[in-house]
Amino acid sequence: MNGSGRKKNTYYLLKSIEEILINENFETEIINLYKEKLEFCTRCEVCILKDGCFINDKCSEIMKKVIECDGLIIGTPVYLNNMSGVLKNFFDRTCSWFHRTPVSQKPTLLLANTQGSGIKKTLNSVKEVMIQWGVCLTGSISRNGRNFNKPIKRHELKNFITSVNLNGYEYIPSFKEIYTYNVQRTLATNVFPVDKKYWEENNLIDSVYFKSAKINLIKKFYGNALYKFLCKVIKPIEN
Ligand SMILES: Cc1cc2nc3c(=O)[nH]c(=O)nc-3n(C[C@H](O)[C@H](O)[C@H](O)COP(=O)(O)O)c2cc1C
Repeated sequence: MNGSGRKKNTYYLLKSIEEILINENFETEIINLYKEKLEFCTRCEVCILKDGCFINDKCSEIMKKVIECDGLIIGTPVYLNNMSGVLKNFFDRTCSWFHRTPVSQKPTLLLANTQGSGIKKTLNSVKEVMIQWGVCLTGSISRNGRNFNKPIKRHELKNFITSVNLNGYEYIPSFKEIYTYNVQRTLATNVFPVDKKYWEENNLIDSVYFKSAKINLIKKFYGNALYKFLCKVIKPIEN
């Protein structure tokens, strides 16, 4: 996914990643977000509280492609030390995925490029959203004005390719990922009935993290203790 407002540096980096993936016999597609002219989120919150979005543009088509792909690469330029507005707007439109993710444990690679500053902050901003989506984080690639022409090598995609081949199976989540999951698990249990239904239907509510992941005993204890605590302090909203 090219999150730039144009078909230039981020796009060329994605093209060179695509070349490596095609050599490995993967089917690929680059979505140029700026071309899709997505509307801004209207902040109605219907997608969070009920489901769906009434805005009639290409966003649902793009979301469907993201859901259906076996692996996702998100590329953004650094604009003012952060991700591009085009990408942020797309993320805003996927707001319900914070609560009810349809892309859990999808192998995902992050790409950012800049003239000089802001790589770390930008990658972190995108990563925060990805943690909420519950994807498998397989690393990041970055370039700046000085090393932009350095070709992307296969080893930079190694973890991503391995994870795609394993369907994201046996991912080892960080404590932060387990924390985020259990905050949403609490909201599903105590606050949002739509979330509760989704979490129950997808067998998420009784689990400390997505079931295909590899969780050691300490993380299991941490997640369950956190969930118990949060369920006591985050109570249903009374009308
Ligand atoms: C609006 C805007 C803001 C930018 N902000 C930064 C910045 O904060 N730090 C930086 O080093 N480069 C900044 N740049 C430069 C871009 O990150 C850099 O040129 C990048 O390669 C552009 O990628 P693109 O061609 O895919 O859009 C900015 C460029 C634009 C247009």
